[in-house]
Amino acid sequence: MTEYWESRFRNEGAMWKSEPADSSKFALGLFKSEKINRILIPGFGYGRNARLFIDNCFRVSGIEISGTAIKLARLSGIECTIYHGSVTSMPFDNEKYEGIFCYAVIHLLNKRERRNFLKSCYNQLNENGLMIFVVASKENSLFGNGKYISKDRYAIAKGLKVFFYDSDSVLKEFSEFGIIECKDIEEPVKFIEGEKPVNLKFVVCKKR
Ligand SMILES: C[S@@+](CC[C@H](N)C(=O)[O-])C[C@H]1O[C@@H](n2cnc3c(N)ncnc32)[C@H](O)[C@@H]1O
Repeated sequence: MTEYWESRFRNEGAMWKSEPADSSKFALGLFKSEKINRILIPGFGYGRNARLFIDNCFRVSGIEISGTAIKLARLSGIECTIYHGSVTSMPFDNEKYEGIFCYAVIHLLNKRERRNFLKSCYNQLNENGLMIFVVASKENSLFGNGKYISKDRYAIAKGLKVFFYDSDSVLKEFSEFGIIECKDIEEPVKFIEGEKPVNLKFVVCKKR
């Protein structure tokens, strides 16, 4: 996993350009409506989504497995705390966060890791805090491509394994962690001209 992301960031740099994903803008609105300011971004990348929250005066910390992605974030002027490591080794601090925003990361983990990751996120969330996960959907055109690993999980490239969610698996995995909403979204791919949008699921959990 580390090698796959390291080599991609080393070879392609800021591969999704600098504009945040539209999902981050929805998340920003949701967090603001709940007066959330202190957030954790696991799978930080080089910070294209984090910057949106930082520019809106959020206090942001991140976790990222690729040292090169962290260097790219620093080069672009991002100064917030970014822990270098795997989300499977959480927690990295003793903080409680008001919100967690995790874009396109949980589906990279295996079943046990996904469960432990959700538990770790939930443990670091304040009461009434929100966790937002944007996850791969079975409606994505890549679903079923590559080598079958286990139900709904495929190796779609060397070193890249993806679990594709449907509404049943979302409910199964997130219901213990306060799920309040799951919607299908089509995320525009603005960094490639003419590219079709990507089918994802936008999952919101609230800690009671
Ligand atoms: C699909 S990318 C999304 C990046 C970022 N969320 C964004 O939208 O710009 C997945 C990111 O998660 C990181 N990542 C993958 N597995 C990880 C893990 N186990 N722990 C921490 N970060 C991980 C990758 O290096 C990459 O930056």
